[in-house]
Amino acid sequence: MLIPPALAAVGLGASLPSIAAFNVISLEYAEGIVDGAERAGRPVLLSISHNAVRFHGALSPIAAACRALADAASVPVMLHLDHCESEELVLEAGDLGFASAMYDASTLAYDDNVAATARVATRGHERGLWIEAELGEIGGKDGAHAPGVRTDPAEAAAFVAATGVDALAVAVGSSHAMTTRDAELDIELIARLSDAVPVPLVLHGSSGVGDTGIRAAVAAGIRKVNVGTQLSIAYTGALRAELGDRVDPRRALTAAREAVATEVAHLLDVISNPSPDLR
Ligand code: G3H
Ligand code: ZN
Repeated sequence: MLIPPALAAVGLGASLPSIAAFNVISLEYAEGIVDGAERAGRPVLLSISHNAVRFHGALSPIAAACRALADAASVPVMLHLDHCESEELVLEAGDLGFASAMYDASTLAYDDNVAATARVATRGHERGLWIEAELGEIGGKDGAHAPGVRTDPAEAAAFVAATGVDALAVAVGSSHAMTTRDAELDIELIARLSDAVPVPLVLHGSSGVGDTGIRAAVAAGIRKVNVGTQLSIAYTGALRAELGDRVDPRRALTAAREAVATEVAHLLDVISNPSPDLR
């Protein structure tokens, strides 16, 4: 298994079965994620999506905040750019000191996806990034992660060889933005993909997967678990409960940040304790 050096340095593939990437929407998310990682004593990726960049209007301000949190953390914290559809934004992330970027050309036809992803992988590597890509579409954002879509192991291996990417998002039954944790993963397919693909496999849409499914997925070969919606459920739930008719949002934001930290600490514990018996 070819583990990107930044991930090997924090133990992935050795003491660490899988790493988690949590979506950052605002500063309080990032603070809660780092707090949760410190409570768990585990490394973590702060994942800023292209959509979050669109929300903020730019990458650099939220990246600078995340960078400062990472530098002050007592556990390894790395920055990841997620679901990026812009080659230029990937390169900007490299210039801002990100560890990695997911370049998402999954809506393109196969040959176009290969050509675009290979070019971004080469240019990203020149900036010290490791590059994740997606083949097919994973539900919710449509494309490879759409319900029912599955990644073919032989095609996945060929795609990695043709593009030179360092990690691959696979479609194995999860779907983005689920608010219930009842997605059923194809654990047997994950195991076959793990045997066929020489780079870490990434599970997207992990919010829709229960703890048992996540443990089984990691045991079968998932090496990076992406979580977004689950944190927003925790965040907005706490925010709603605490805000009431208050004008000052800080008490509610404190509760929201704490809810994120609790969820992150729990999920880091889950991915650190896979269940081989469930394969
Ligand atoms: O890339 C991000 C993840 O796939 C998050 O998906 O919001 O469904 O957990 P989720
Ligand atoms: Zn995703």
